[in-house]
Amino acid sequence: MELVTTRNVVRERVGQARAAGKLIGLVPTMGSLHEGHASLMRRGRSRSELLAVSLFVNPLQFGPGEDLSCYPRDLPRDMALCESCGVDLLYAPPPEEVYPPGFASRVEVQRVTEPLCGARRPGHFAGVTTVVLKLFTLLQPHLAFFGEKDYQQLVTIRKMVADLDLDVEVVGLPTVRDSDGLALSSRNTYLSPEQRQQALALPRGLQAASRAHAAGERDARRLEAIARAEIGKATELRIDYLELRDAADLAPLEMVERPAVIAAAVFIGRTRLIDNRLLG
Ligand code: PAJ
Repeated sequence: MELVTTRNVVRERVGQARAAGKLIGLVPTMGSLHEGHASLMRRGRSRSELLAVSLFVNPLQFGPGEDLSCYPRDLPRDMALCESCGVDLLYAPPPEEVYPPGFASRVEVQRVTEPLCGARRPGHFAGVTTVVLKLFTLLQPHLAFFGEKDYQQLVTIRKMVADLDLDVEVVGLPTVRDSDGLALSSRNTYLSPEQRQQALALPRGLQAASRAHAAGERDARRLEAIARAEIGKATELRIDYLELRDAADLAPLEMVERPAVIAAAVFIGRTRLIDNRLLG
């Protein structure tokens, strides 16, 4: 595996791969890698001839007062995981390489970014789409791998690719969970053991809604209430949002007659966790 920190070297490697007719796969990440990221890298490995991972804690997608400065970072550990997943190229640029002084552009997808996390984190998705489009332009992947864990992000990137005619196949992959059901997240490291126990109410609540849906419940508000009731049992959790929406375009739903997603964000102390379940 080659660690690259400058655009020029990336361009050279991508140019060589493209000239050799190689299929390029990209897994964009912010590092602090775990088995969720590894599942994307392994799928990426099996489907691409040059597998690139980007590791960049993107300041543009963090709001004021969010955890940019304390976001967990561990390059040696991340490199070892990438290596073990068969990554060919790890692109880990410094911030000034991505956003030189005077950088003034934003890529913004509308509508699908308005509810859920978009409503609570203004500018977040514009930060995500701006950096992802830059990565697509630089690394020219044929395939790009994203997790369903960040479901609204996946929908947003699919929309950007469709709207802007990008020649990239977006591959969405299922959420990887710990044996206790908690979705793996770089932010789980912020949780004390007690908080982690409390956090389990989040997947439990979404799972309860999913079971009710499987048993035939179709009323969106009732499904949300089932999840809320379960999450409410954990006294240290504060629900930021919990909503059931259309899985394709995140439009509001009254009745679940098409594939839907129930998505939630909760605060435990100062840590914010998100999770979701696909229904149908
Ligand atoms: P990050 O949070 O590092 O996540 C990188 C990728 O890993 C995303 O596609 C995310 O959905 C996926 N992922 C995270 N946890 C997962 C889990 N438990 N199971 C499966 N996949 C999981 O998402 C970002 O970084 C950034 O917003 C980024 C796209 C890199 C743009 O900066």
